[in-house]
Amino acid sequence: MNILLTGGTGYIGSHTAVSLIELGHTVVIYDNLCNSNASVIDSIEEITSIKPAFVIGDIRDSALLERTMSKYAIEAVIHFAGLKAVGESVQKPLDYYDNNVSGTVTMLSVMKKLGIKRLIFSSSSTVYGTPQQLPLTEEHPVGGVTNPYGRTKLMIEEILKDLADSDPLWSIVCLRYFNPIGAHESGLLGENPNGIPNNLLPYVARVASGQLECVNVYGNDYDTPDGTGVRDYIHVVDLARGHACALKRFNEMHGCEAINLGTGNGYSVLEIIKAFEKACGKEIPYRITDRRPGDIAANWADPTKAKKLLDWEAHYGLDEMCASAWNFEHKLREKSA
Ligand code: NAD
Ligand code: WQD
Repeated sequence: MNILLTGGTGYIGSHTAVSLIELGHTVVIYDNLCNSNASVIDSIEEITSIKPAFVIGDIRDSALLERTMSKYAIEAVIHFAGLKAVGESVQKPLDYYDNNVSGTVTMLSVMKKLGIKRLIFSSSSTVYGTPQQLPLTEEHPVGGVTNPYGRTKLMIEEILKDLADSDPLWSIVCLRYFNPIGAHESGLLGENPNGIPNNLLPYVARVASGQLECVNVYGNDYDTPDGTGVRDYIHVVDLARGHACALKRFNEMHGCEAINLGTGNGYSVLEIIKAFEKACGKEIPYRITDRRPGDIAANWADPTKAKKLLDWEAHYGLDEMCASAWNFEHKLREKSA
């Protein structure tokens, strides 16, 4: 298939591009580079020996999107493009609603105009808010989201449901990612946020490589086995493969389906630090600090629906996730030394 990846030079999009190219799909990447670098295209080529077509563009630019989708005879879109920093979304809500929600509506209008009705959307486990029970199935109520970023995901899911209800020819899959971590085994692709990382794994990796001093553990008084927050961490390469599995099912699927992509296992912050110490062979200093506002104690997925509908399940364990993240971080520091 000819597939457009909006946000395809980003962390998850770039790994998905590799996965799809390796399966023989033709990938076109469309990204405005607001949170990624064009050199990712070379890394994808180095890994797959195929250079994907790349257009620098914004999803809010309907004319450029239309030209791109027509030129490359796009048959399906995987929509990664969006802003994703929870804290920033509280400071700049309008930027988030404009970029994520308006941008998606613009993109959907272009798809509709061109008759392209197959879409995979990057949603998030954040739509479940504070879990009423664990593990989280797709039937768990959504809502109760504590920040504008999470609300953009919820709003977009609602828009997609309305769209699918309006026309039975749409096939839409909302993949609700849990916590993606890790990197491609080559060490050429991975997560390298600008500034001080907000997320746990990149922060731990930078402490391990000496860029930061000490991990702040946000609270050890949660109702979890060791008191620190528990999450379902999933290897980004497993996540990428989930998109390829969803593409295969478009022929049998109509309407709008929400599907969890997680491993079904929860790990605490302290367990993550331990696993990373094992991967990098160093001690990682940490200190317990106050809870981070808006955080929940625990969430992990029930991945049964993904197994049933997509024939997908996660293969990698925590040790492999940490080892690949360390390999990427280590190579990055070598390059910049
Ligand atoms: P990322 O920031 O690495 O990738 C997003 C890409 O979209 C970037 O390359 C950025 O330049 C691009 N982009 C942003 N706004 C754009 C616009 N208006 N037009 C064109 N390109 C634009 O983030 P990621 O971690 O790869 O996440 C991909 C998607 O998955 C996002 O929608 C994110 O919200 C969602 N998601 C991420 C996580 C996570 O923990 N990483 C979890 C759940 C959901
Ligand atoms: C994980 C655990 C923290 C940093 C966020 C978004 C979510 C999704 C994924 C996009 C928590 C603790 C963290 C640190 C810490 N993104 N922590 N010290 O909060 O589960 O999810 O990213 O959709 O929407 O909310 O991920 O990696 O920030 O935190 O102790 O320096 O690590 O309290 O328990 P989170 P995270």
